[in-house]
This record gives sequence, C-alpha cells and structure tokens, in this order.
Amino acid sequence: MSRAIESTEAAPLCLRRARFEDVSALLRLIEESIEHGCRQHYGPAQRRAVFLTYAESLFVDVVQPFDTIVAERQRRLLGLAQLDPRVGRLRALFVTPALQGRGLGRILLTAVERLARARGLRALEGAMSMNALDFYRHAGFTPRRGQEQLVRGGVVVPIVDMAKPLAQGSTEDP
Ligand SMILES: CC(C)(COP(=O)(O)OP(=O)(O)OC[C@H]1O[C@@H](n2cnc3c(N)ncnc32)[C@H](O)[C@@H]1OP(=O)(O)O)[C@@H](O)C(=O)NCCC(=O)NCCS
Repeated sequence: MSRAIESTEAAPLCLRRARFEDVSALLRLIEESIEHGCRQHYGPAQRRAVFLTYAESLFVDVVQPFDTIVAERQRRLLGLAQLDPRVGRLRALFVTPALQGRGLGRILLTAVERLARARGLRALEGAMSMNALDFYRHAGFTPRRGQEQLVRGGVVVPIVDMAKPLAQGSTEDP
C-alpha cells in the first residue's frame, strides 16, 4: 500500500522556484511522469503528443513570465507545477512516477493555489488530462465544458477544461 510522501522519508521535501539549469531534468521528469501516469488513458502516440506539447511550451518564460515551482529532496527533482499568473492558468503539474499517488501532487497544487491567491487571482483553471480528472475533482475543480481535444501532428488527445474558485483568505490550505 502506498503511504504519504511526508510520512516515509527522512529528508525534508523542499519546494522552490525552478531555475534554468533544472530544465533538462524537468523535461525527463515530465516524460517519465506522462509515460507512467497516463498509460491507462492514452496510447503511446497520444502520450508522445502530450509530452511534446509541454516540452515545446513550458520554458518560454523569456516571452511570458510564468511561476514554476519544483519539489526536490536531497537535490533530486520530484515534481513540478507551473502557473500563468496573468490568467490563473495551471499550465503543468507533474509528479515523478515512483511518487505518484503519495500526496506530492496535492502539495504542489496547494502551493500553486496559495501563489495564485497571493497574486489576487479568484480562480484557477487548466486543461486536464483524462487520467488526472479524479485528482482535480478531489481537489475542488469542476469541468467547465465537455470533453475537448488536443490535436498534434494528427494525434487526437482528449482533455477536459476544469476550474476551481479560489476563496480569498481561505483557511483550507495547511
Ligand atoms: C496527476 C498527478 C499530478 C497527481 O499527483 P499525485 O501525487 O499522484 O496525487 P496525490 O497523491 O497528491 O493525490 C491527492 C489526492 O487526490 C486523490 N487522487 C489522486 N489521483 C486520483 C485518481 N486518479 N482518482 C481518484 N483520486 C485520486 C488521492 O487519493 C489523494 O486523495 P487524499 O488527499 O484524500 O489522500 C500525478 O499523478 C501525475 O503526475 N500524473 C501524470 C502526469 C499528469 O497527468 N499530470 C496532470 C496533467 S493535467
């Protein structure tokens, strides 16, 4: 049975802003995270299309300033989340395969929500992959529309746009 990440590890988990030198390790983490976490909902071509879509657009802060948070323990990157603070969009949330289902996604999402509130945003939204819908529902997100499609190189990937209101001054965060 899986156990919560904080209760099983001796070294503390650290959340910090992503740095330029993290990029190649983060791309590897994202690829592995998708290969593992999406395998029951998306085929190989769809997983490749999802990875390439993120790989191409995630680290373009030069033109658009995003907030990118990474989780690391003993210098090992374990997950990342990215917020577009201009529109309150959750652009990415990935947990390394071995830790999926052990609470790190929730920790990163809570950190993004706190950041979004601090920036005065009233809601968080994002295009969610099919394997992650229950995770987001569990965290208070609801679908804004029906199922939609990401299309890349002729490969169709179903996704669902979801949103969550962010109560200002909410006490729900730990
Ligand atoms: C989706 C993802 C980010 C979730 O992170 P995670 O660390 O695996 O999820 P957590 O362990 O933090 O789950 C938090 C809660 O959601 C619940 N949950 C998570 N996934 C769930 C699922 N598929 N179905 C039902 N509940 C789920 C957990 O039971 C947990 O509940 P609790 O707080 O009551 O214990 C992670 O699995 C991942 O990286 N998947 C592959 C990449 C991906 O799909 N990213 C999202 C793109 S939109």
